[in-house]
Amino acid sequence: MKHTKVKDLLNSTKTLQEINAKGWVRTFRNNQFIALNDGSTINNIQCVVDFENTPEETLKRITTGAAVSVIGDLVESQGKGQKYEIQVKKLEILGDSDAEKFPMQPKKHSLEFLRENAHLRVRTNAFGAIMRVRSVLAFAVHQYFQEKGFVYVNTPVITGADAEGAGEMFQVTSLPLDNLPKNDDGSINYKEDFFGKHTNLTVSGQLEGETFAMALGQIYTFGPTFRAENSNTSRHLAEFWMIEPEVAFNDLHDNMDLAEDFIQYVIKYTVDKCEDDLKFLEGRLLEEEKVKPQAERSEMPLLEKLNFVLENNFKRVSYTEAIDILRNSKPNKNKKFQYSIDEWGADLQSEHERYLVEKHFKSPVIVYDYPANIKSFYMRLNEDDKTVAAMDILFPGIGEIVGGSQREERYDVLIEKMRVIGIDEEELWWYLDTRRFGSAVHSGFGLGFERLVLFVTGMTNIRDVIPFPRTPGSAEF
Ligand code: 4AD
Ligand code: MG
Repeated sequence: MKHTKVKDLLNSTKTLQEINAKGWVRTFRNNQFIALNDGSTINNIQCVVDFENTPEETLKRITTGAAVSVIGDLVESQGKGQKYEIQVKKLEILGDSDAEKFPMQPKKHSLEFLRENAHLRVRTNAFGAIMRVRSVLAFAVHQYFQEKGFVYVNTPVITGADAEGAGEMFQVTSLPLDNLPKNDDGSINYKEDFFGKHTNLTVSGQLEGETFAMALGQIYTFGPTFRAENSNTSRHLAEFWMIEPEVAFNDLHDNMDLAEDFIQYVIKYTVDKCEDDLKFLEGRLLEEEKVKPQAERSEMPLLEKLNFVLENNFKRVSYTEAIDILRNSKPNKNKKFQYSIDEWGADLQSEHERYLVEKHFKSPVIVYDYPANIKSFYMRLNEDDKTVAAMDILFPGIGEIVGGSQREERYDVLIEKMRVIGIDEEELWWYLDTRRFGSAVHSGFGLGFERLVLFVTGMTNIRDVIPFPRTPGSAEF
């Protein structure tokens, strides 16, 4: 017998005879009412067990976490809160779950505890909702770009390049670690390694993406990227997913337009498709807000916050203007930021970004034209010779969600920059070829997918929006 998803049963327009549902028991009340969830929706279906005609042995095995199959009729529910329930005629325990030992008890667990049980936390309402929202957002990403005729490019995970020039790479090797082949000077001889050279996990697919944009016009990547930065924060992962569009003939302003349109599209798509999950997550947040001190409470409920982003243009401000705003601001009672921005050229710290977004503009903000020396080598030098055509998009509660730029398309300027900061041009010969043969203005950006999921779900720790988080000191699963 084919089973029907709980979501379809709950959305049924009529009562039904002899249906089969399969799922996991969330709770079992009064020896009679099973709340059954199969992951197709946040909502459980109530299954009413005929306890008088069910063996005592079987009733005992209906415990939180157990996998069960029920056959019965879908009838109108007598109880409040649900339209339909299943009047169970036949019940089978598919997989027992020891009620004493099952870690996901029907009560509120701390997020820390759930992180230690990442393989089971997805069986809770909140994590089921988060992971469904994540999946829909990912689909929306593809839908947006595919509708616009972008080509999806799978850039390599193993690469010889350090795309960001920041040296935060995980090394890849097949060499025996306890017996590394050495050169005469004691350095590791990577010529004997699998690829005959030194390689690492990619920090960004951008450089390879650029080569494809210079042939296919508009491309995007969407894949895992890796950073060995020792940032133990609620916004950093060692493995995260990045979306990187790259477009030939786009300048910085086209790039900003694309990023804004893209972000609004995927949020709108998800708000429309994930109503139940987002309502649940909003309710969960409102509960949490109640116990927080007033100052830490967020000003808007989740859905209102999402709609605000959809209905309002992002504010655009140059780095120089942003610095002026910050210099003339009194962020708190001490009237000073912890990190000084008195010097033009200082990088914005998260306290500055938060101030701009949450206090000054009260809106997502695009900061552009950053000082050249705090940004990556491939960004296009502006006419003023001191800023580059970079843009970061800053989001409330998140900080930087997007980093992008117009690329330096002039061979001479690019090679000079690489020499000055000591990037090996031989290592990037293939990248430089894009500037040798048919170079043209082009731009792109990278959006950290988990930061987007954080924003849309209202969660506050990035470890809670990726199935199995990798962070310093933690790769259990
Ligand atoms: O600003 P980033 O480092 O830019 C790049 O990698 C460019 N190559 C992108 C491009 O132009 N194609 O990273 C882009 C975004 C950040 O804005 C942030 O959202 C996210 O990636 N990100 C991280 N997310 C989670 N954990 C980390 N450790 C992250 N580092 C960056
Ligand atoms: Mg960045």
